[in-house]
Amino acid sequence: MLVSAKDMLNKARDGKYAVGQFNINNLEWTKSVLLTAEELKSPVILGVSEGAGKYMCGYKTVVGMVKGMLEELNITVPVALHLDHGSYEGAKKCIEAGFSSVMFDGSHYPIAENIEKTTELVKICNEKGLSIEAEVGSIGGEEDGVVGMGECADPNECKQIADLGVTMLAAGIGNIHGKYPANWAGLSFDTLAAVKEKTGDMPLVLHGGTGIPEDMIKKAISLGVAKINVNTECQLSFAEATRKYIEAGKDLEGKGFDPRKLLAPGAEAIKATVKEKMELFGSVGKA
Ligand code: 13P
Repeated sequence: MLVSAKDMLNKARDGKYAVGQFNINNLEWTKSVLLTAEELKSPVILGVSEGAGKYMCGYKTVVGMVKGMLEELNITVPVALHLDHGSYEGAKKCIEAGFSSVMFDGSHYPIAENIEKTTELVKICNEKGLSIEAEVGSIGGEEDGVVGMGECADPNECKQIADLGVTMLAAGIGNIHGKYPANWAGLSFDTLAAVKEKTGDMPLVLHGGTGIPEDMIKKAISLGVAKINVNTECQLSFAEATRKYIEAGKDLEGKGFDPRKLLAPGAEAIKATVKEKMELFGSVGKA
């Protein structure tokens, strides 16, 4: 059964660890993340961007696939199916399709409009027992063609949005999606501490989990981060394993590649990446 992310994040905040959100793109990706979470007895959040949702034939297909896997693979750990960086319309569609959690990314709207739209979605999610993530201060890098500059969130605006009753809050603290440039200034822990002070018990979310040094991840968790999103690192390990398999030319022999064998090394590589992150985030054994 899919669950809201609320309980797992409140527990993570209290226990000073973070739950990983791993973005999924296809069946292999999803299966790898779920099997690893089950093996490590870790709660997990499956992130679906609007682009990935479209690729997988729409949100209803995603819900069907994930629910089917939970049953067929006997998954017992808490799993939330979460829209990542959703638009207002996308969030509504996911709620209807059966997601257990949504992110409404209103960070590009003026704060008043972000508040208005977040308020409406909080109400709908509360009525249905779903969790909702909001964002203040855009996360840098590129996500589905949208490029953010990695600005730091205004702690007062964070408080305004947190007070609307969201389940978790993503605050920009200099983090960006994708690989970090060599001249990256690092996470702004001053901003994180100020946001934490203003928002109290609110579980905080760190986007752009790929490539952040381990000591910064640990410090962020100690300052209230309870959810960390990882996407690019799974893509990189998947691509590298697939490239090696193709270069080895094993299945060619005039018959082409067996699609199941072709995708297997990438799926194993994702498992290894997810395991490494769950160990780093401290969520192993917390299911
Ligand atoms: P990375 O691609 O940098 O891991 O970030 C993922 C993310 O934050 C998804 O919302």
